[in-house]
Amino acid sequence: MAAAKKFHSSLFHPTLRKWQEGNVNIEPENLMYPLFLIEKDDAIEEITSMPGVSRFGVNQVVKHLEPLVEKGLKTVLLFGVIETLPKNSRGSSADCAENPVVRALPLLRKNFPDLLLATDVCICPYTSHGHCGIFDEENHMDNEVSIQRLAEISLAYAIAGAHIIAPSDMMDNRIGAIKSILRKNRLESRVSVLSYAVKFASSFYGPFRDAARSAPAYGDRKCYQLPVGSKGIAARAAERDVEEGADMLMVKPGMAYLDIVRQTKDMYPHLPLFIYQVSGEYAMLWHGAKNGAFNLNAIVMETLTSMRRAGADVLITYYTPLVLDLIQKK
Ligand code: PBG
Ligand code: ZN
Repeated sequence: MAAAKKFHSSLFHPTLRKWQEGNVNIEPENLMYPLFLIEKDDAIEEITSMPGVSRFGVNQVVKHLEPLVEKGLKTVLLFGVIETLPKNSRGSSADCAENPVVRALPLLRKNFPDLLLATDVCICPYTSHGHCGIFDEENHMDNEVSIQRLAEISLAYAIAGAHIIAPSDMMDNRIGAIKSILRKNRLESRVSVLSYAVKFASSFYGPFRDAARSAPAYGDRKCYQLPVGSKGIAARAAERDVEEGADMLMVKPGMAYLDIVRQTKDMYPHLPLFIYQVSGEYAMLWHGAKNGAFNLNAIVMETLTSMRRAGADVLITYYTPLVLDLIQKK
């Protein structure tokens, strides 16, 4: 007689259950922590739209990171947010000497020699119009000019000490342009490129645009970010960026796009795949837990474990400090 289809005998002990999961463990290596950096070196600013998340001045970020590095934190993703530096059509404050990311990189290198430093590259926090590219006189996005500018910013971050350049702008062929400028400056083998390859035009970015002061002044990002219901162009975007030399790929947002994570992992099983649990996901879980819908620790671990199961190797999450505590306790 064929064995009955019964599962409890495989599930009654924690170790038996673990064996059903494959490797969906969450270790410090699987976490990347996004940080917002501001101009005032000694300031900490709470972010209203993301309760529990703050923007840090460069001195404060060092203090904030010390205990986290102690707990095993391996990598951070840096975002600059400006207040008094000028915003203009080409985002000149993205790579000026006073930019908080440019200033933080050498300091972080010095204080945390083993910490892997990634920088988000985009101009929306620095442009007067809040878009991720540069417009021509007729107000059309000028792709060629945009990718040259993004490459220039990438080079500045690399020179300042970034190990990983992570362009989030979604301009066409920016990976190629960034790889090329790094090559010309003999930095290609010492700087990695993590492409926000599969980035959807999502409402989940709402809180971030407040956090980074980067909301578009008019219009939306649907002419460069991917349509929510699309799958084919998500595959083509990943393929294009791999062909242009991306070292690592990202799918963003996370929870609502796990089918795309699986699709991308199946296409490129040998490339590290990142998933971004974005600001709106962060806020949704926080507010849900606060209002009694579920327990925060449990829901955070559930969503992140699901992301690992779907094929993500690295989880970019604002919950990283919490997760480091939870996995330490285990
Ligand atoms: C900027 C950028 C965004 C995010 C990362 N880089 C916002 C956007 O593209 O509108 C979103 C991150 C988050 O929501 O946590 N290009
Ligand atoms: Zn942008």
